Amino acid sequence: MRDLLPPTVAVAIAGPDDWTGELLPAELACLSERAAQTRRRDFAAGRMCARRALRDLGLAMTAVPAAADRAPVWPAGVVGSITHTAGYCAAAAAHTTDVRSVGMDAEQHREINPGVRRLVLLPEEEAACARLPGGTCWPVVLFSAKETIYKVWYPIVRDWLDFHDARVELDPDAGTFTARIAPTRVDAAQVADPPSSITGRFVIADGLVRTAAVLGRG
Ligand SMILES: CC(C)(COP(=O)(O)OP(=O)(O)OC[C@H]1O[C@@H](n2cnc3c(N)ncnc32)[C@H](O)[C@@H]1OP(=O)(O)O)[C@@H](O)C(=O)NCCC(=O)NCCS
Repeated sequence: MRDLLPPTVAVAIAGPDDWTGELLPAELACLSERAAQTRRRDFAAGRMCARRALRDLGLAMTAVPAAADRAPVWPAGVVGSITHTAGYCAAAAAHTTDVRSVGMDAEQHREINPGVRRLVLLPEEEAACARLPGGTCWPVVLFSAKETIYKVWYPIVRDWLDFHDARVELDPDAGTFTARIAPTRVDAAQVADPPSSITGRFVIADGLVRTAAVLGRG
């Protein structure tokens, strides 16, 4: 993810020990006692990465609990994002003085089934994927971009954004995506300056699709 985000954003990628890292009490309290082992490992890796990203911002060690809506609760003055997929986990954090919101997502680079595709992609996005160069599962790149967009959007607006509320265009040569956002559910007027456009970057490597986006200040 380091390659996808500006230097104002601290990024940490999970190493082998992070998946079994020790959680702080406030974090442990967010995990259901019935959570499966994979969920425990993912959650732990995310928190270990979050801790390192916060340290790189110059902050003392602090818990990053999860809110009831599952969004991570970053310390005051910080925005951040966490993603995990099989064998990969990363966290990003930045000072709110530098960054309004940050999001990132990692997915396995593989086809997604037609039902999920219909749920995620607008017909024009589906058609655009068919025109892009072969050898890449473009729908999963769009899916990941939309997950990233949601993670940028949600901390600002605190409400749902449907997959069809964002129209994403990919530029495969530049490794960038641009989303035009027209929320159907949120009364955007109630939120100060909701984002109507989000630009991000993507990379496909080592069997993964990684996407990230940042909304700067001003
Ligand atoms: C929340 C969501 C985006 C997570 O994405 P995912 O690919 O399933 O999983 P990832 O591993 O990449 O990310 C999970 C992390 O996202 C973070 N997260 C969860 N809810 C979040 C929210 N509302 N806002 C920001 N971050 C959130 C958490 O840190 C979570 O990890 P944790 O539970 O271990 O703390 C996804 O589950 C979801 O609900 N998507 C539907 C909404 C959407 O994407 N709309 C598209 C708009 S264009």
